[in-house]
Amino acid sequence: MSRTLFVTTALPYANGSFHIGHIMEYIQADIWVRSMRMAGHTVHFVGADDAHGAPIMLKAESEGITPQALVARYAAERPQYLNGFHIAFDHWHSTDSPENIELSQTIYRRLKDAGFIYSKDIEQFYDPVKGMFLPDRYIKGECPHCHAKDQYGDACEVCSTVYSPTELIEPYSTLTNARPVLRSSEHFFFRLSDPRCVEFLREWVAGTNANGDKRLQAEVLAKTREWLGGEDEEANLADWDISRDEPYFGIPIPDAPGKYFYVWLDAPVGYLASLKAYCDKAGFDFHALTDPASGTEQVHFIGKDIVYFHALFWPAMLQFAGLKTPDALNVHGFITVSGEKMSKSRGTGISPLRYLEIGMDAEWMRYYITAKLNSHVEDLDFNPDDFVARVNSDLVGKYVNIASRAANFISKLFDGRLAYAGDTAAMREEFAAVAAQVRDDFEHREYGRAIRRIMAQADLINQAFDAAQPWVLAKGIQTADDETRARLQDICSRALAGFKALSVMLAPVLPVLTRRVARELFGEARDFLWSDAGAPPTAITPFKHLMQRVEPKMLDALFEPPAAPQATPGGEPIADLIDIKDFARIDLRIARIVAAEEVDGSDKLLRLTLDVGEGRHRQVFSGIKASYQPGDLVDKLTVVVANLAPRKMRFGVSEGMVLAASHADENTDAGIYVLHPWPGAQPGMRIS
Ligand code: MSP
Ligand code: ZN
Repeated sequence: MSRTLFVTTALPYANGSFHIGHIMEYIQADIWVRSMRMAGHTVHFVGADDAHGAPIMLKAESEGITPQALVARYAAERPQYLNGFHIAFDHWHSTDSPENIELSQTIYRRLKDAGFIYSKDIEQFYDPVKGMFLPDRYIKGECPHCHAKDQYGDACEVCSTVYSPTELIEPYSTLTNARPVLRSSEHFFFRLSDPRCVEFLREWVAGTNANGDKRLQAEVLAKTREWLGGEDEEANLADWDISRDEPYFGIPIPDAPGKYFYVWLDAPVGYLASLKAYCDKAGFDFHALTDPASGTEQVHFIGKDIVYFHALFWPAMLQFAGLKTPDALNVHGFITVSGEKMSKSRGTGISPLRYLEIGMDAEWMRYYITAKLNSHVEDLDFNPDDFVARVNSDLVGKYVNIASRAANFISKLFDGRLAYAGDTAAMREEFAAVAAQVRDDFEHREYGRAIRRIMAQADLINQAFDAAQPWVLAKGIQTADDETRARLQDICSRALAGFKALSVMLAPVLPVLTRRVARELFGEARDFLWSDAGAPPTAITPFKHLMQRVEPKMLDALFEPPAAPQATPGGEPIADLIDIKDFARIDLRIARIVAAEEVDGSDKLLRLTLDVGEGRHRQVFSGIKASYQPGDLVDKLTVVVANLAPRKMRFGVSEGMVLAASHADENTDAGIYVLHPWPGAQPGMRIS
């Protein structure tokens, strides 16, 4: 039975380039999509940029551009990655699009009409300098539990306590360092706690899709049970705050001036917006695909960190807006690199673009990730040695080599014609049976198991070829009898039939290589389908090189720091390269030194009082006493790092850092030199 599938991957935030975690998710989904298509199913596979929210707005602001321009910049670089790794979305869209505005507002109106929306005033931290309510991540302070300094507003990274920002001791805004004040404002809520909602979700999470497969993985289901409770238990669901006050980069809430949808409301709607834009372009019927009565299966690939949104809010929103609910949530773990967690802000050891730039084959990465993925929510480690071993010994050594070994004899001695001695039924059945299992593994996301089966089959094919010793037969072939010639041709033909079957099974993983195998080696008019696995080929055209081995030194290049540090007259090598985005995180401002005084008990420090144009003064301690008389500094302009987290010192809190030049070795008499701008600069001006 032919199925129609609507498949998505999570929509990446449009304030950063793709990292290897994104690429892993897309590869997983792309393989699934390709395998389903090879089985004759219709698949609509779409993605989009997640454009809205405070971080994107603030990042754009700090770069002095509009959020739209920031999003456009990242959108423009997406194709390099997607094409580079052969990830074949049918369409890539944005949540900042007319389709998404219209769909989000429509869904909201329907939820409101159905009684799922209410509003109430809540008190939140507000940055009086910036003039905006602060998301938890932009508030820091001392942990109320373990008293660690500079902890985020939602949880302590030292003792893992979860709290609300109002519990922080000495809270400050990371945007301006100002002390946030509590301010009240009307917020809109989605009534997740509504009994209709709880009842629906309990049923939805436990359900199966049309194909008889569970909608959620066992571990994901278990997680949702913690939130939803069992039959006679209370659900543990808080209503969901779906609004944000201006200034916010988002979609306006209808009939609520100054209010916007929280980014997580319109983000998943972006799945539908992308599908809609695709349907409009390609001539499909969007409403037919998203109608609850439609037979379309809606499948989302996501990472383990965003289950709450996809297993609770999203199905509930769809259900009570009268739309189709998802049929499967395919949740994967995180990729680590050599055992290390990637950091969201700093990225990871592997840049996908660098991988491509140094000439590494995207299909190696696809193969490696496939070999290590399974259907569980488990993390996966990229290990360089393991990568080299699997690609060189398995992919090239076992699979690709079959073609090079057998095709030579057929091309040279038999003019490219294949012939099988005796019956091929058993061989065909064997290949078709393995392919059916592999296909089933892919459908159930047991990718590693699929690869193990494929490699076990490759071993069998290689063993049969070696046992028959075709090179011995080939030696005297010019004078050999017909029977010997037929035997050699049979051995090589069977090996090539095996190679074709393996190529069919690897086609979802290696779309480029197997397309060449289909078209160039076997002269097929189309790409492989699953049904081709049991159909032995009849001829080949002269064999061209299919795939290189990985050179281990490529991996050194992949991890190598971009530039070799060199010593300078300052005595210190130049630090690792950063890009403009890293630099933009440092907020350098012109400051006027209002007062300067010696610090009792310190022979290094001066206490400076600075005017950074904020309408208040800052206290900054600076280790420049050896080089300056306090009186000489007063009324001078200098440069201060204005967004450095305040630091409590023995003598008081230091709210920033004055920039000064010095030799790396403090013991030289090179001195220390405070930076001083050219005339005309004013306190508060930003330096960039
Ligand atoms: N914008 C939200 C998703 C909205 S979906 C309506 C978001 N974006 S994200 O860019 O942070 O993450 C996008 C996807 O990448 C998520 O599925 C996330 O789990 C996945 N990954 C992020 N880091 C990852 C790894 N280290 N490994 C694998 N996947 C990871 O969340
Ligand atoms: Zn703590």
